[in-house]
Amino acid sequence: MKIFKKILFWCLVGFALIQFIPTDKVNKPVDRKVNFVDAKKTPPKIRRLIKDACYDCHSDETVYPGYAYIAPISWSVKSHINEGREHLNFSIWEMYNQDLKKSMLEKSAQTIQNKTMPMPGYMVYHKEANLSEAERMLLIKYFEEMLKTKTY
Ligand code: HEC
Repeated sequence: MKIFKKILFWCLVGFALIQFIPTDKVNKPVDRKVNFVDAKKTPPKIRRLIKDACYDCHSDETVYPGYAYIAPISWSVKSHINEGREHLNFSIWEMYNQDLKKSMLEKSAQTIQNKTMPMPGYMVYHKEANLSEAERMLLIKYFEEMLKTKTY
């Protein structure tokens, strides 16, 4: 029992200490001229869907949830955001070349279709990102239309 209490004590100390390791939660300023939903004049309904379901990880407008302030969860959240932005950052859309835009729209439609995006774990605490079939279809159609008309 004594040894168990000791282990528990040091675990708690460790947990308390890692709270002091900060993660960078400062968003870069967004330039509306290059931001996807502004530049493309995305209709309000679609804009809301993209912002609710994708922008936390794929833009510089991340809204950090409460759990993102508790280490070690905060590290996992931050690494998903970093990785998400690295692959696709809607905030700098107009800085992408045509090939990259095309490929990102194709992949976005694909990942929404096969339900790998938004990341399933994210939807547990973000019900608004848990898109219905109809909402998925709306987004896919929007991206596909843009591909067809080459208006990306
Ligand atoms: C919780 C964070 C999170 C959310 C929300 C999220 N993504 Fe992602 N996304 C990631 C991460 C992390 C990766 C990179 C690793 C991977 O492919 O799984 C990624 C990868 C991608 C890729 C692949 C890019 C490539 O280079 O292959 C696309 C496309 C994408 N996401 C689109 C979307 C769309 C569209 C939405 C909204 C419907 C969305 N994501 C929501 C985190 C997220």
